[in-house]
Amino acid sequence: MLKRILRDENATVAFGSELYDAIRHQYGDRAVIYLHGDLGAGKTTLVRGILRMMNHVGAVKSPTYTLLEPYQTDWGEVYHFDLYRLKSPEELEFLGFDDIFAGPGFKFIEWPGQGQGWLPAADVEVSLSLHTPQEKSPATPDVDAAMQRQVSVHFA
Ligand SMILES: Nc1ncnc2c1ncn2[C@@H]1O[C@H](COP(=O)(O)OP(=O)(O)O)[C@@H](O)[C@H]1O
Ligand SMILES: [Mg+2]
Repeated sequence: MLKRILRDENATVAFGSELYDAIRHQYGDRAVIYLHGDLGAGKTTLVRGILRMMNHVGAVKSPTYTLLEPYQTDWGEVYHFDLYRLKSPEELEFLGFDDIFAGPGFKFIEWPGQGQGWLPAADVEVSLSLHTPQEKSPATPDVDAAMQRQVSVHFA
């Protein structure tokens, strides 16, 4: 179990490096990672941090409309799913996503509940939520207290 407070967007991106190391260490070149959290919680930002760690240059788009954005990096394949708009879990079958889950690579899944019954079990579950600190840090008094995030990671 990993737990962190993420003060700002950069902290979420930086946490991607730490998470990458942990996943690589425990699961090697393939892992299924569920990303839990409301809209705007920072799920896509975290995937961006991991892709940056894996030397991906260029944009990381939210797969909200495409359901999937695949990446080939120097450090292996990444499949970033966002199932928010998925109509039924069977749709994943029609789209041929079973091949992806049978192969190598990291599979990050936003809104995994939408694929429940079809998706393989998670190796890693990440939960992001809003975090309001008790008091503002004197070092960064301008950071909006209500805008921070908290992340917890559970390894199966
Ligand atoms: N630790 C953080 N503190 C404050 N804002 C953050 C943090 N991490 C990410 N954000 C911001 O949250 C917003 C939503 O992020 P996004 O990753 O698209 O969320 P999701 O994919 O969960 O819907 C972005 O504007 C991003 O800059
Ligand atoms: Mg997202």
